[in-house]
Amino acid sequence: MSSREYMIVVDRAIKVYESRGEKITALREVSLRVPKRSVYTIMGPSGSGKTTLLNLIGGIDKPTAGTIIVDNINVSSLTGEDLRKYRLHKIGYVFQSYNLVPTLTALENVLLPMTLAGRPDRERALDLLRQVGLEGLEKRFPEELSGGQQQRLAIAVALANDPPVIIADEPTGELDLATGERIVRLLLDQRDRHGKTVLITTHDPRVARMTDKVILLEDGRILGEYEPSKIHDIAGGTATGEVSAERVIVEYIKKRLAELGEEMRRLADAFARGEVDPDTFEEKYRELKTLQKAFQAELSRLGAGPEAL
Ligand SMILES: Nc1ncnc2c1ncn2[C@@H]1O[C@H](COP(=O)(O)OP(=O)(O)OP(=O)(O)O)[C@@H](O)[C@H]1O
Ligand SMILES: [Mg+2]
Repeated sequence: MSSREYMIVVDRAIKVYESRGEKITALREVSLRVPKRSVYTIMGPSGSGKTTLLNLIGGIDKPTAGTIIVDNINVSSLTGEDLRKYRLHKIGYVFQSYNLVPTLTALENVLLPMTLAGRPDRERALDLLRQVGLEGLEKRFPEELSGGQQQRLAIAVALANDPPVIIADEPTGELDLATGERIVRLLLDQRDRHGKTVLITTHDPRVARMTDKVILLEDGRILGEYEPSKIHDIAGGTATGEVSAERVIVEYIKKRLAELGEEMRRLADAFARGEVDPDTFEEKYRELKTLQKAFQAELSRLGAGPEAL
């Protein structure tokens, strides 16, 4: 594929944060190419650098070294007005914490980026709200919407100025599977109907599986990439030419399962010591359990079965 066919090209990006004299390396020479009209997922444990990578691509932060090219624009060299325009027109960013303006209605939230770009278009805003399934809720304030509805509103806001790239940081994080699936379908639809390039992060393998390619990030490095559609049965070895990628994903899932088990044990201990109140414990435990089940199901689906643990 020629470089023109890629919407996003990250070349050996390094990010080192400095906080109170301490240096934290969040990305260690990450290289990545995302073709136009595709939906890519970045998966990785907490702290692996997912948000950092999205922020570099979104023009919110600058790499310490390396280059970021989006739609043939060298993002890492942009400053001032050029950077502002890049963020407004090229990128639709759905933040990990939705970033909706609480004092504006749903409709006004969608109109805001258009107004900042000097082109408020009420009809388009209403149409976007329809597209994300929020028809009739235009006048609601964000806090009057459910989590899933707020997430869909955040996507409508990201689409306001028709950017070629959509970046969504854990768009299904807090949502149940059905709602999460709906969000991912919405993003896949943006690829199919509007030719958008979409990059999402998730902890959920079920979400990852719906997309074109999964990039595994760990400790600021890319562990591997795999195409969910090409993976059928690892244990049986029926898929050809993808063996190493499949091994990587299985190893990754096993590691995540071990981490989740550990996290659940720590949580139970803290609860037993009275350090966590019952409500928090129950909520957090249920969340971890759901994720654990999802990873186990993914392992079975991959033919590696939980018994292989
Ligand atoms: N502004 C910052 N200053 C210092 N360190 C930071 C900053 N932002 C992130 N980090 C560190 O960089 C590393 C990567 O963080 P990042 O937020 O990219 O992880 P993540 O994969 O998005 O995690 P999560 O799944 O929890 O959202 C972590 O060690 C984090 O503590
Ligand atoms: Mg993050």
